[in-house]
Amino acid sequence: MKTNSLAFRLFVTAAAWVLVVLPIAGWIIFSRYRYEAVTTFDTRISFFLTVVISDADEHSESGPTPPNNWGEGLFEITHSGWYWQIKPLDGRPGPTLRSRSLSGDGLPLPSEHKIEPNDKEVRWGNFVGPGDQRVRIAEQVYVFGEGKSAQRYSVAVAGRLSEVEENLAAFRSQLIQALALAGIGLLAVTLFQIRFGLFPLSRVEQSLAAIRSGEAAKLDGELPTEIKPLQQELNALLKSNQEIVERARTHVGNLAHALKTPLAVLINEARGDPSPLARKVAEQADTMTTQVNLYLDRARMAARIGVIGRVTEVRPVGESIVRALERIYRDKQITYSLDCPAGTRFQGERQDLEEMLGNLLDNASKWARSRVSLVAAATSGGGPNGASGNWLEIRVDDDGPGLTPEQVAEPIARGRRLDETKPGSGLGHSIVADLAYCYSGKFELTRSEAGGLSARLTLPLAT
Ligand SMILES: Nc1ncnc2c1ncn2[C@@H]1O[C@H](COP(=O)(O)OP(=O)(O)OP(=O)(O)O)[C@@H](O)[C@H]1O
Ligand SMILES: [Mg+2]
Repeated sequence: MKTNSLAFRLFVTAAAWVLVVLPIAGWIIFSRYRYEAVTTFDTRISFFLTVVISDADEHSESGPTPPNNWGEGLFEITHSGWYWQIKPLDGRPGPTLRSRSLSGDGLPLPSEHKIEPNDKEVRWGNFVGPGDQRVRIAEQVYVFGEGKSAQRYSVAVAGRLSEVEENLAAFRSQLIQALALAGIGLLAVTLFQIRFGLFPLSRVEQSLAAIRSGEAAKLDGELPTEIKPLQQELNALLKSNQEIVERARTHVGNLAHALKTPLAVLINEARGDPSPLARKVAEQADTMTTQVNLYLDRARMAARIGVIGRVTEVRPVGESIVRALERIYRDKQITYSLDCPAGTRFQGERQDLEEMLGNLLDNASKWARSRVSLVAAATSGGGPNGASGNWLEIRVDDDGPGLTPEQVAEPIARGRRLDETKPGSGLGHSIVADLAYCYSGKFELTRSEAGGLSARLTLPLAT
């Protein structure tokens, strides 16, 4: 999942929500449960405290009697964690009574630890009791006996704290498991939802790629209502682009027809007349024909390249041209080398690439002594005139005589031939330059390392 993607945004918000909400919910549930558990435990201890006091007070005028008739087995088992204790206060003599579970040990008392009583005159505290057990103790001061024998006693009841703590720990681990499961489930569902929900977008992406590579003319398929308008708009745009290209093509054709005949007539008429004016007219009309042809060619190429380009794999084109040239220049025994990684693709018509490579490789073969090389690769250094985007660099080198720096520096003129010893019309380079120009590319000549000419083309790269 890329960080700058809809899927990532949706997933991160859902995950953040789950990560924030589930712990908070867990904390609320746990606090509530803990409150209930602790309150129930305290109620139980309070209840025992009341029972111990009322039982001990039952038949005593002179002091407390051991409470016994309330049938709670926990107070009988040694160090069970549940204890009661009645102890005289103010340093006065009197019986100290203890539950059998204490087996003679004393209970730590909240009053001895300066804990203040609550509004019901009961002091609460958590201590380490007999047998190193953590206990919760409730203590109340009660006056047993009547008249002269009336005396203050501390009555305390202790309950085993680990009972509550074990209960809470078990509840907490179950709660965490349940919430974690819920969280993982939610994230899984979110992932599925995102994949399922965004699936049509990846279909759109594929269709667009198909349009760009010329395999499809419009965005097909039944898309969800939310992106249906996009599909319609895009198809309308594609159609109008197509129409513009068609119209341009028609205009170009019409202009060609409209101009060619009058120019031909002018030239014909002027040639038949020896006057200086006629000569001037013939000469200028000739230039006009050349110019008209040049720009008509360019316009025609541009129309063909159109708005939606095709994608052409470079390697097969190079291979087929080399095969043809090997046959044509069989006598020269030229070694061709082709360095072009598979997957290097030109964003444009196959026919145009064939035309450009054909011309350059033909020139190289014509002038080479023994070696011609074709190298094609994606460049990293940007495009012509600092243009950004993806560019393809194609170099055709030979080991022939090459051209002088002055010849190389000159723009290649139409029909201009520097070396008349070889056959040709002198149109090759200008066709290559025109095509490169139509693709916003660049065509350059330099000296090759092998000594001959190095022709370099920069063209749009298909990604
Ligand atoms: N590889 C090369 N080595 C040396 N000179 C070259 C090379 N390629 C082109 N030239 C020079 O540049 C001139 C123009 O080349 P261009 O391809 O336009 O014409 P051509 O090859 O002569 O004719 P055409 O390609 O139209 O049959 C050539 O006449 C030749 O003098
Ligand atoms: Mg040529």
